[in-house]
Amino acid sequence: MASITVNGTCSLPLSSSVVCHAEHIDLDEEVHEDIVDLKEEEQEDIISKLVVMLLSISWTPAAALRTIVELNIPKILATHASAPTHSMTAEELLERAPGASKPNARNLERMMRLLTCKNIFTEEVENITEGGLLKVIRRYALTPLSRVLVPDHATGTMANFVKFTTMSPVFCKAMEHLSESILSGGSAFESAFGTNAFDYMTTHPDQLHCFQAAMTDHTNQMLPIFLAKYQGFKGVKKLMDVGGGDGTTLSRILARHPHIQGVNFDLPEVVARAPCHPGVEHMVGDMFQSIPFGCDAIFMKTILHDWNDEDCLKILRNCYSALPAGGKVIIVDALVPVETSTNSEDYENVGTFMSDFCMQAHCPDGRERQEHEFQYLVKAAGFSNFQVVVQLDYMFVMEGVKQ
Ligand SMILES: C[S@@+](CC[C@H](N)C(=O)[O-])C[C@H]1O[C@@H](n2cnc3c(N)ncnc32)[C@H](O)[C@@H]1O
Repeated sequence: MASITVNGTCSLPLSSSVVCHAEHIDLDEEVHEDIVDLKEEEQEDIISKLVVMLLSISWTPAAALRTIVELNIPKILATHASAPTHSMTAEELLERAPGASKPNARNLERMMRLLTCKNIFTEEVENITEGGLLKVIRRYALTPLSRVLVPDHATGTMANFVKFTTMSPVFCKAMEHLSESILSGGSAFESAFGTNAFDYMTTHPDQLHCFQAAMTDHTNQMLPIFLAKYQGFKGVKKLMDVGGGDGTTLSRILARHPHIQGVNFDLPEVVARAPCHPGVEHMVGDMFQSIPFGCDAIFMKTILHDWNDEDCLKILRNCYSALPAGGKVIIVDALVPVETSTNSEDYENVGTFMSDFCMQAHCPDGRERQEHEFQYLVKAAGFSNFQVVVQLDYMFVMEGVKQ
């Protein structure tokens, strides 16, 4: 039977001659008798409406993900689900969820089922008869995807990233202004809040804390592959992380390359909350004003994608001025592919465009760029030998050298 699979959650039969480009399609031999008699255009129309309908509510798993993180469900499963099944029912989970005054296990179970479709949990179903009535008991267990949502996961959690990026009131309010930003220019975030995201966070410490924790999660996700693949720290003696947040990235680099001295450079309110890391000196400043001298390499992870070309040039020129001859700038950012793939499972492609969307919604004219755009900016700031050194996932490492 011919069928279409939409985001792995829905399957609908269709004629083998109907080609729908919107999503992944599985074609088998038989054609479903209910729609085989319809014209091809009619079949395509039916499928297209379904695809659009499901696409328009594709925010639902993200909202469910946010909810289960808020309710601490992954941690409860990690702590209380015992052998042999390591699974719990929604009722058992809610008994341990904080602040439940009138628990509604059914509502939780509905979200657990949606997230099970996305492989966030596994589900085990048991049918029992109680008082002559059939009762279905559903038990849920962690998968590798939900294990990384446990707050004290050994290699770092992704729970803060989920909380910051999924349907938060600040994100949603900025998104209401996207059309405006397209029609009249300017950034959606500034239209919504009257200031850019970084300035906004200086007066909203909760949002700043949430953002910095999300960036730490991003670092924990990315650093293992970065450290395994990037070999460019050999001759570096003193490394500055410009816009380094709470210093986690630098501390992880130094743990792998203990010969390096580290300087973590960020805004005062960010550095004020940053913990001490062995070998890392924290410095306060504004990268648009000047960047301190004294380091032979400057590292910037997910910095340039926050800003427009003019601002990027200011940052890169300040990096250039701060470096000695022979010093290098190391940039870690996504690279927008030349072709746009229609394969929604091509995460390198989709990841870049999703990240680009977040920059559009949230940053002051921020955007992901193509390789030649980075090359232009790095060269225009004075650096030579621009090269893309290594690909991580949808992120890349690029370098420029001061001659
Ligand atoms: C997207 S975050 C990246 C943080 C970190 N590099 C990482 O990847 O985890 C951007 C960082 O730039 C910092 N930043 C923004 N404006 C800055 C400025 N004018 N001077 C220095 N740092 C700034 C922010 O505080 C934030 O830590």
